[in-house]
Amino acid sequence: MNKKYRKAIIAGNWKMNMLSSGVKPFIEELKANMPKSKTCDVVLCTPAVMVANMVKAGKDAKVIAGAQDVSKYEKGAYTGEVSAAQLADIGAKYCIVGHSERRQYHGEDDMLINAKAKALLAAGINPIICVGESLEQREMDLTMEHIAYQVKAALSGIDATALRHCVIAYEPIWAIGTGKTATAAQAQEVCEGIRAVIRKIYGARPARAVSILYGGSMNAKNAFELLGQPDIDGGLIGGASLKPVDFSEIVKATAQDAKE
Ligand code: PGA
Repeated sequence: MNKKYRKAIIAGNWKMNMLSSGVKPFIEELKANMPKSKTCDVVLCTPAVMVANMVKAGKDAKVIAGAQDVSKYEKGAYTGEVSAAQLADIGAKYCIVGHSERRQYHGEDDMLINAKAKALLAAGINPIICVGESLEQREMDLTMEHIAYQVKAALSGIDATALRHCVIAYEPIWAIGTGKTATAAQAQEVCEGIRAVIRKIYGARPARAVSILYGGSMNAKNAFELLGQPDIDGGLIGGASLKPVDFSEIVKATAQDAKE
């Protein structure tokens, strides 16, 4: 993390877990364990139906509500879809796009992810854009080429002003939900590479200001080391974000001094 130049963000991804009735008790337990002074933005990305509950329950715990997906369309005859304006209307401030589970199970490609990121920006929501390589790609030494392509495609047509509202999450697919975390050095290498890709497109200042998160089996034990890396500005946390105490421990790990 380098808090001098960019915001630290700890974002939970509840995926398709929890019920609306569980939001308030979760936040109460989280609040009881969270540090008093804030060293990062704390975000919880819930299923869309729980965002309003999170906005309400999260208010005095200073937890920011986010969603996990959005339609690329503005409005109209798209049965089952939820638009960016609808998410903004109920108070979502962040929204994940391009999570590997959406890429894998819903056939989302980089063009669609770019369109979704733009739809969010137009509605005033900060997209958390996920990128990551498969194990095969890593073993074939294609990690950085693949990630550079994903980052460039996701940011295509997004100008430097809008980039200030974008967050990138590096999530190696082989580390998601598997208990296998990338080593701090592996995660740092890719996050540094992502910043270099952004620097090439936008220049040094915008690149220095973008928050880049690591995701993939981040937990209370490994968070401190991962967050101690200069280009890792936070985490996108799945499993451990369902446990208030574990999640608050990850939040506490952002209290360390910035390094660069
Ligand atoms: P995990 O999930 O922390 O359970 O590995 C991370 C994610 O999918 O965002």
